[in-house]
Amino acid sequence: MNNVIAVIGCGRIAKDAHFPALSQIEGIRVKYACDLIEEKAQIIKEEYSFVENVITDYKAALADSEVEAVFVLTPNHAHYEISMAALKAGKHVMCEKPITVNYKLSCEMAKEAEKQGKILNIGVCNRYNKSVELLEELNRQGRFGDIYHVYCSFRSFRSIPGLGGAFTTKRESGGGVLIDWGVHFLDLILYVLGGAKIKNVTCDAYCEMARDMKSYKYEEMWAEDTSNIESGTNDVDDFITGYIRTDKATISFNGAWAQNINKNEMFIDFLGNNAGARLTYGGKFEIYDGKTLETIEPEYDIPNMYLREDKAFLESIKTNVKNRNNIENILETMKLLDFLYASSDIKKEIEL
Ligand SMILES: NC(=O)c1ccc[n+]([C@@H]2O[C@H](COP(=O)([O-])OP(=O)(O)OC[C@H]3O[C@@H](n4cnc5c(N)ncnc54)[C@H](O)[C@@H]3O)[C@@H](O)[C@H]2O)c1
Repeated sequence: MNNVIAVIGCGRIAKDAHFPALSQIEGIRVKYACDLIEEKAQIIKEEYSFVENVITDYKAALADSEVEAVFVLTPNHAHYEISMAALKAGKHVMCEKPITVNYKLSCEMAKEAEKQGKILNIGVCNRYNKSVELLEELNRQGRFGDIYHVYCSFRSFRSIPGLGGAFTTKRESGGGVLIDWGVHFLDLILYVLGGAKIKNVTCDAYCEMARDMKSYKYEEMWAEDTSNIESGTNDVDDFITGYIRTDKATISFNGAWAQNINKNEMFIDFLGNNAGARLTYGGKFEIYDGKTLETIEPEYDIPNMYLREDKAFLESIKTNVKNRNNIENILETMKLLDFLYASSDIKKEIEL
């Protein structure tokens, strides 16, 4: 039987990632494409003939007993309201990352999924990236010896998204570069380390590059283009730095949505006492062997991670087996983000 689904939020991630993925999966019906802005859902329907209806109120999809699962692809703050309503309506949920704007609400979402006996997955898509999967396997097999430290950089020259809009308004996004980009890096690190648990954290967040939004110099805009908006809010981190102790390894990181260094440096270094690896974010990794001093470039292909993530979600619904992206496996990441922001607020290390 076909899975009947509704997609709520027809913005960039819907258009660039999930609809192209869903179009490659057999045995599904997208009964509803929903967006507050009808035109956005309409554009999707015109592009994908398998979309049956366009709606602007997600509650119409939740009221339809034929709909088995919903994809929640809205801004972060709406993840909570829509996912909770969907779970209460008896639907399985695939919700984009981050879970929502803070840890407390994330825990409520996990509890509701448990109560309803429904699958609630989170779009930390890198867990379905082949490079990340291989690194996790290699670590489990002992290839690196003990990984004692992981360093990551998610720094860009000019990448503040939708300045003045939802992305830079803490109430709607939960934060800036840490919750938007850092979530991917830190989540995949915890995953590769084998589900590391946080012991203590220290962090500093900065909002410097667009103090005056009108004079911020754009290079390109990868989200909604707000370069001409007259007013708006920007109260989130555009630069973040921190240090984390876990039960497995220590982690240090620097992230920038924007900085006055014209470099885009997106990588993760896993430092083991037998070997190390540098993962180019979204790409491949190299292994540096400590005994032979060889640099090894493993040969593999990287299939589409969104397709793998969406297929795994649909498989979870079918089998009722929770997979690696189930909310229960992502709560530690959300807790980490919360405590990092809290440490920055009080300017002190926090013990968990
Ligand atoms: N996994 C990834 O790699 C990845 C990449 C980009 C974005 N994301 C996440 O996806 C989510 C969406 O990001 P985006 O870049 O697509 O944003 P976007 O602004 O392009 O799209 C969001 C859409 O949701 C719609 N919307 C808002 N509230 C709604 C509601 N109540 N009902 C129906 N529609 C509603 C908006 O009108 C908009 O069209 C965010 O949480 C973001 O963090 C994940």
